[in-house]
Amino acid sequence: MLTTLPKEGLRAAIYSGDIYRFGATKWSTRLQNFVKNATKEHLGKNYRRTHETLSAQAFFERIGGLRSLIYEAQYSKTCIEHIITSLGEEAIQFAYEPPKLRAVSHEGHRNPKAAPVYYGHRDTWYATPQSTINIWIPLDDLCEEETFAFYPSFFDQALLNNSNLFNFDNNALGAGWSSSSEGIENLFPTCSTLPNAHHEKTFSISENEILVFSGSHFHRTKKQSLGTTRFSLDFRIVHLQDHAQNRGAPNVDNASQGCCLSSYRQPVSRAH
Ligand SMILES: [Fe+2]
Repeated sequence: MLTTLPKEGLRAAIYSGDIYRFGATKWSTRLQNFVKNATKEHLGKNYRRTHETLSAQAFFERIGGLRSLIYEAQYSKTCIEHIITSLGEEAIQFAYEPPKLRAVSHEGHRNPKAAPVYYGHRDTWYATPQSTINIWIPLDDLCEEETFAFYPSFFDQALLNNSNLFNFDNNALGAGWSSSSEGIENLFPTCSTLPNAHHEKTFSISENEILVFSGSHFHRTKKQSLGTTRFSLDFRIVHLQDHAQNRGAPNVDNASQGCCLSSYRQPVSRAH
C-alpha cells in the first residue's frame, strides 16, 4: 500500500492497481464523525458490542434506519464532494454513490443469511464502471482480523465468477443492498474458487486513516470472532469523462450487465 498520493496521475495510478492508505482529511473526518455520532444515537455508545444485547435480526432492523439516514443525508454528499477535492480532483467531474455504512459482526459468518458479506468479489461485478474508485473509512481503529483482504496479484488476472448473473436493471435495491434472502446468489456475485490464502494482503488501520483503491480489486471481508462488531463506511466515485472514454482498470473477468451510474449523484451545479 502506498501512503502518499501522487502530485498528478492519481486516477491512472489507481486504474493500474495502486492502493493508497493515508491520513484522514478534514472532510473525511467530518463524514466519519457524522456517521459515528449517528451510530451512537441508534445503537448506543457501546455500538461495537451491540451484538451482545440484540439478536441478529433485531440488529439488522435497527441498522437499516441508520444506513438510510447516512445514505440520504445531504451532509454526507457535501462531505464526499469535499473529499474528492482533497484528493486533488475536480468534484464536478465525478458522479458518486452516497456512503454506505457496513457492519461486520462478531461471528457474523456463522449466520447463513450473512454469507454474501464474506464473498470474495470485485465491486465491478456489481455493474460498476471499470473506472470506479473506492473510498473506505473505518469508524474505529481496526486490527488485521477486522478489515478485509486484497488479492493484488489478481487485479489483472481473471477469476472464474458468476458476475454474468448480475444485472443492475433487475436489481431494484441497487448493488449490494439486498434485504431478502430470495435470489441472493444473483444479487451478490462471487468466484467459484477463492485464490490461495498466500495471495492475500491484509492490513490493520487506524481511525485516522482512509483507503482509496480501484473498484476492480478482488477483495474479501475477514471473518472475525473478536467480540466486537466492525463498523466502516465506503463510497464509490466515477470520473465521468474517464468512463465515457473507457479509461479505467482492465476488465479481465467482469460480465455484469447494466450500469449503476443511473443511481449515482452529481454535484448540484452539474446535475440536471
Ligand atoms: Fe467490495
